[in-house]
Order: sequence, then C-alpha cells, then structure tokens
Amino acid sequence: VDVDPSAYEYGELAGEPRMYTEILEQPSSVERTLRGRLDERFGTAHLGGLNLEPRELRAIRRVKILGCGSAYYVGQMGASLVEELARIPADAEAASEFRYRNPIIEPDTLYVAVSQSGETIDTLLAVEEIKRKGGRVIGLVNVVGSAIARACDGGIYLHAGPEIAVASTKALTTMYVGFALLALQLGRVRDLSIADGKRLIAGLQRLPAQIEEILKDEDRLEEVAGALAQAESMFFIGRVRGFPVAREGAQKLKEISYRHAEAYQTSELKHGPLALISPEVPTVAIVPDDELTDRNVAALHEISARRGPLVVVTHPEVDLGDLEAARVDVPKNEVELDPILLTIPLQLIAFHAAKVLGHDVDKPRNLAKSVTVE
Ligand code: G6P
Repeated sequence: VDVDPSAYEYGELAGEPRMYTEILEQPSSVERTLRGRLDERFGTAHLGGLNLEPRELRAIRRVKILGCGSAYYVGQMGASLVEELARIPADAEAASEFRYRNPIIEPDTLYVAVSQSGETIDTLLAVEEIKRKGGRVIGLVNVVGSAIARACDGGIYLHAGPEIAVASTKALTTMYVGFALLALQLGRVRDLSIADGKRLIAGLQRLPAQIEEILKDEDRLEEVAGALAQAESMFFIGRVRGFPVAREGAQKLKEISYRHAEAYQTSELKHGPLALISPEVPTVAIVPDDELTDRNVAALHEISARRGPLVVVTHPEVDLGDLEAARVDVPKNEVELDPILLTIPLQLIAFHAAKVLGHDVDKPRNLAKSVTVE
C-alpha cells in the first residue's frame, strides 16, 4: 500500500489484478464523490442533479431503493441511512424481482435506482416500470450518460472512476457515500439538526483517511483470508446496520473464491444456523461498537461453545473478553457511517482468499461485470 496514489489512479498497478487496484483507489474515489457537495455552514449536502426543490423533498413519504447484486446490498445500507437521518421509511429490494410482482407505485415515494454500470437490464426495466406508472426515480450511477442515468428524472453521479473488475469495490463505497449525502439533504429539509448535519459532514470528511488506515492492515487480512480459504463453507453475520455488511462480505467471497458463504442476522442464529456450526464452518461476525455490541458478543460465545472458528470485524473500543477469535479492528466513525468502514476489510479478505486459491479475481467464472440481457 506504500504506493503513490497518482501511480494507480484509474490505472494498472504493475502486475496486480484490477480489483486490487480498485480497492486501493477507494480513499480518492470517496473524495471525488464528496467533492463540492458538502455545505459545512448549514450542515447539509448539495445535490444539484436531483432536480427536486426543498418543497418536493419535504413531500417525500417513503424511499424505495432498487439495485442488483452489490448495488442491492448497498441499497439496504442506504435505506438505514435514510431512515436514521431523515426519518423517512425506506427499504431496498432486488431490482430483478421488482417488476414481476406488479408493484404499487405511489406519488409521494422517491424511487432510487443504484447501478455502477448504469446498464444492468433488471434495474433499467424496474426504472421503466416505475416511470410508466408515473413514479419519480433518481439514479445513483457511476457511468455518466448510461441507460439508467438517462432514464431517471435526476440523480447523483458517483465519480468513482472506471470500475473494471467484475467484483464491485470502489463503486460500492461511493454508492454508500452517495446515500449518506442524499440522507443528509433529505434530513436537513426535515428534522435533522444543523449540529447533527455538521457531525455527519465531519464524519464523511474523515472517511478517506480511515479507509487508508484499514488498507494498511493488509498483512493481517491476508492471514485471516488464508485460514478462511481452507473452509468449504462459512457464515457471515451481523445485525441491523451490520447485516447488509455481512451480505456484501459473503457475496464478495462467493464471487471470487467460489467458497460457499451465507449471510444471516446474528439474532437468527438460534433459529437455524446454529445447527451447522462446527470446527469446519467458520463465521465472520460484524460487531460494531453500538447499542447491540453485548448481544452480538453473547451470540459469538454460542458459536465458540460449539467450536466454530470466528473472525470478528469490530472496533478497538469493543471488549471481546475471553472469546477465542481472530480479531480485525477498523477505526470508528459516526455510528451511521460505520457500515462502510466495516465493509472494506471484507473486500481484502475476499481478494486474498481468491488469490491463495489461485483464481483469476478480475474474471470470476460464470459472471459478467454488467448483465445487460434478460
Ligand atoms: C453484476 C456484477 C455485480 C454487480 C451487479 C450490478 O451481477 O457481477 O458485481 O453488483 O451486476 O451491477 P451494476 O452495474 O448495476 O451496479
């Protein structure tokens, strides 16, 4: 990681897979997403491309987020941000399912389509279905002028730079930041205080340096990945804000290492998955320092008691007591913004697991970067 960022900005890092380059680019891609969009004086965001007046923003009663694959999982993280900061009911749905259930399109719902490529057919057709029924859709899209960007009423360009590797990394991080900006702007035309707005802006500004810090821990993550790669099957678990992080971690690992990985909510442990815990089935647990830490740690003891190997992605502030686990610490930000930092080590774990197994991480079998036909 001791490489001058300008040496790999948008480019190749000699001899390294593209996915690796893109993971390392994240501090600068996040900076680009934020550039010119933060209003420190009023503790809000300026997203000119939304094409929505404050009066229209205030009239939104629900937010519905649509995307596929990693864009769907980050949509779940985005829904939490919107609910927490703007107190507007929000949820995410797989765009690939949406149009098949004759969805009810409401005039006071803001629909958000999330896509790196802007060409994913399922997401595009979901947008067209909403528009046909008179709904309003904004896009969180990376590729300027892409089909989804053109089909939407407005949106937020991510400015992540070109993403070439099939497994999404830097685009996903910038999607999260895009959601934070949207939630901030929606929140500040409602009841989010100026003090909270400023607190979040300061948190967003800390992200690039904190991502840099996580990337410096690569040797440790490589070691953890080496052990996980030996397992045929594993679990990723998290609760509330941590659950989409677990889903994205499992997805990344499946996509490039071809190991079986399933994500479930830590709270569901006793309702099924505990039956499969054994020394052969490791669990990667997301345990942020938040109001659920104690409950999360108690669940990990249940796994440990059944000799299930544990990797715990957590904050330095969390006391794991005598729990037997491989620990990965990430720096803490504001509680609302922590999910994205908890996601970064999972990218490097998936990358190194695939590398150790000798897979071509940039071109995983059977997968395409963007799925443009039904
Ligand atoms: C494909 C890729 C995934 C990606 C998804 C959505 O399935 O393999 O990595 O998350 O498409 O792509 P999009 O371009 O719409 O974000």
